[in-house]
This record gives sequence, structure tokens and C-alpha cells, in this order.
Amino acid sequence: MTAAGGGSAPVFDQRFRAQLRDLIAWRRDIRHFKPDPLDPALVDDLVRLACQAPSVGNSQPWRFVLVEDPALRVRVRANFAAANSEALHEYEGERAKLYASLKLAGLDKAPVQMAVFCDAAGALGHGLGSRTVPETLMHSVAGAVTLLALAARAHGVGVGYVSILDPQRLCEDLEVPADWHFVAYLCLGYPGIEDSDVPELQRRGWQDRLEYRSFVHRR
Ligand SMILES: Cc1cc2nc3c(=O)[nH]c(=O)nc-3n(C[C@H](O)[C@H](O)[C@H](O)COP(=O)(O)O)c2cc1C
Repeated sequence: MTAAGGGSAPVFDQRFRAQLRDLIAWRRDIRHFKPDPLDPALVDDLVRLACQAPSVGNSQPWRFVLVEDPALRVRVRANFAAANSEALHEYEGERAKLYASLKLAGLDKAPVQMAVFCDAAGALGHGLGSRTVPETLMHSVAGAVTLLALAARAHGVGVGYVSILDPQRLCEDLEVPADWHFVAYLCLGYPGIEDSDVPELQRRGWQDRLEYRSFVHRR
């Protein structure tokens, strides 16, 4: 393929569309993992696919940090534990009890862990689009994370999103440049939980998913 493109575009048939719907419906946020390792080539391929996400001005602001050092993982778990216990204090009564019973990260077992950042100072994209709406850089990275999660699900690999962290502490621990903003800490591995097409937080009574039409507005 050249810089101008190449190859002929595939045609997606009905069977593929049905499978794509299933892939989207059965993607889940996973917090329970088997300890089995993931093939590094698969992880590499997932990152490659994530990097095909749309990005404002083609800025490709995503940065992936594979967190492999056990000592660093211990620090991330401590960061989560502190942030999670702080979050618990913001709830009261039954809601607090329910929050305390939720498992909100698979940091103890996930064989692959990666932090995802947005490089706000990257020169790629020449500011197209992000000059008017700087948040579009962060939006671009969020899109890449979603692609990664879908691609992982297609391999039977689960991805769990962890945002209950002190981002500044995480950036310091991982020694990332000052212009990198935290987007996601991802746990990856084979799920240690049965597949479901219903979010775990819905099954646990935290928050139901609403009918999609309730989110559509017309002006
Ligand atoms: C930006 C973002 C941050 C999230 N942070 C957490 C988190 O810290 N802990 C957690 O258990 N799930 C986290 N999640 C997962 C959501 O809880 C989950 O996506 C939602 O409950 C719907 O479930 P589903 O992804 O299985 O459809 C996060 C998801 C997103 C998109």
C-alpha cells in the first residue's frame, strides 16, 4: 500500500454485520481475569488496531505504556486502593454498601496492563480541529481505547477500564512526560467470568443501561 492508499475495499455482508452486532453487544468491561498469559504478538496487534482509530487532524495523540514491572504494578494497585476508599466515602447508606461490594478493577490478576495517555503537545495533526476544541485530542484517544476493547473481544480477550486512580500519582509513577494526560488504565486477559450481554454494573444493581432512544434528541 502506498501513502495514497491501495488495495480494493472489502464488501461487508449480512453475516459479517450480524457478527459485528454481536461483537458490540457482547463486549464487556472485565474485572475478573484468569492468570493465563496473553500472547505478546496479540497484544501488539491490538495496539496496532487501536492506532487505526479516527483522530482529530490525524494527530494520533494516543500513547500506550505497557506496565510490566511488578513493583510498578504494586504502586498502581495502591493508587487504586486509596482512590477507591476515598470514592466510597462519597456514598451513603445502601449505595455505599453496594459500592463497597463491587469489584472495580482486575489489577490483582490481569496478565497485561497498560496505561493510555493523550499527548497534548504532539506535533502531529498541526492543530487541525484541536485548536478550536482541544478536548478532541482526548476524544481521539478514547476512540482508540474502544477499538482496542472490541478487537480484544473478537479474540475472547477481556479488557477492563480503571479510572479510579489519582492520575497525577500514576503519571509520576510511570514517569511520563508532563504533556501526557491520563486517559485509561487497562487490564487485559482472558475473562474469569461467564460471558454476558448485560453490563456487570447493571447485573449488580448499580446502574441499568437505558433504552437507546432515551438518549436521542431532536431540535
Ligand atoms: C471512561 C471509563 C472509565 C471507566 N472506569 C472504570 C473503573 O474505574 N472501574 C470499573 O470497574 N469500570 C470502569 N469502567 C467500565 C464501566 O463501568 C462499564 O463500561 C459500564 O459499567 C458498562 O459496562 P460494559 O462496558 O460491560 O458495557 C469505565 C468505563 C469507561 C468508559
